[in-house]
Amino acid sequence: MSPYAHITGWGMAVPSNVVTNTDLEKMVDTDDAWIQSRTGIRQRHIASEEETTASLARDAALNALRVANLNPADVELIIVSTSSPEHVFPATACLVQDRIGAIHAGAFDLSAACSGFIFALDMATQAIRSGSIQNALVIGSETLSRFVDWEDRNTCILFGDGAGAFVLQAGDEPGGVLSAVMRSDGSGGDLLSLPAGGSFMPASAETILKKQHTIHMNGREVFRFATRVIAQATREAVTSAKLKIEDVQLVIPHQANARIIEAAMRGLEIPLEKCFINIERYGNTSTASIPIATCEAIQQGRLQNGDNTVFVGFGAGLTWGAVLVRWTGPVLPHRHIYPTSYRVWVTIRSQLLKLVRRIEGWIWGRNI
Ligand code: ACO
Repeated sequence: MSPYAHITGWGMAVPSNVVTNTDLEKMVDTDDAWIQSRTGIRQRHIASEEETTASLARDAALNALRVANLNPADVELIIVSTSSPEHVFPATACLVQDRIGAIHAGAFDLSAACSGFIFALDMATQAIRSGSIQNALVIGSETLSRFVDWEDRNTCILFGDGAGAFVLQAGDEPGGVLSAVMRSDGSGGDLLSLPAGGSFMPASAETILKKQHTIHMNGREVFRFATRVIAQATREAVTSAKLKIEDVQLVIPHQANARIIEAAMRGLEIPLEKCFINIERYGNTSTASIPIATCEAIQQGRLQNGDNTVFVGFGAGLTWGAVLVRWTGPVLPHRHIYPTSYRVWVTIRSQLLKLVRRIEGWIWGRNI
């Protein structure tokens, strides 16, 4: 029988620097009351120069591994979902793999904007359910503040930086991820895009002058699309797990706009008390928003073992999707693992590997 994919660890990391709506009033023509009433956002965390998508992802991953009590060397797959990778390549997931010492893991990035964490969760689940791996790390990490036009009031008020991570482990007990829905509609790609910097429109002085390396968005259209697909994907995930909407104890939606979430919950006839919202403190952290919200839901006692929980997201692409999880929590530890204690050895190992490559290059006359 196929094993189940249980979520046994969770962690988050956000930059310490907080930008409030009042701070934004000094940068663009906006005000706190407008932002709060139209989006539900009061503040967001913004990365400093030292904080990057990989550094936030590493911190969230180590926190998740600590909860799961799992040695990084036992992780076999790392998927980093991000729309703000450190580079086109290497994948941010590989940087994380090196920095946490996941020496047996295959690592890659997944790009599906704000739906990415849902897609990555489904991919890792399938790898576990097929029996090909036992332990996976799924991370959503963003520093979208680096792609925001801080003079555009339509977008700069929305986004924040952060990362969240789940550890997934194989288990024979029924539970964990029970169903998933992944959808996309590329015909709406222009509604939310970052036009330049890819192979279609490589970086040039002109693209920078025209601010084509920043987020372009048709807010009203995205809003309409989002309310429709949140309801649709939630229904599909619930039905495919052979459950009813009334069987769901908690919905953790992508945190893009409190009004979008409220409208979608009205459409689903799910009372807002069954929905977790924390957008007021983080803004839209894109693919990181669902795991960050999950960490806080657990901290606040809103998510209990046995609960049927729906994670539902939408974003650029257009993409959308939902996952239904029967929450089971961490496996009881046999002995305590301290994933952060590996960090010193991991750094030494990484530097040693680089050195060995240089020495080999020197011996064989290669230029490294
Ligand atoms: N402060 C004050 N006024 C503003 C601001 C601001 N920050 N931004 C826009 N306005 C103005 C507009 O210019 C407009 O003025 P006008 O009528 O004179 O033209 C007016 O407010 C109303 O604008 P709307 O666009 O109708 O405002 P709306 O209520 O739709 O809210 C918002 C705008 C918040 C962007 C909303 O449309 C939204 O949240 N859309 C979804 C965006 C989203 O979720 N994006 C992320 C997707 S996930 C991903 O993949 C990254």
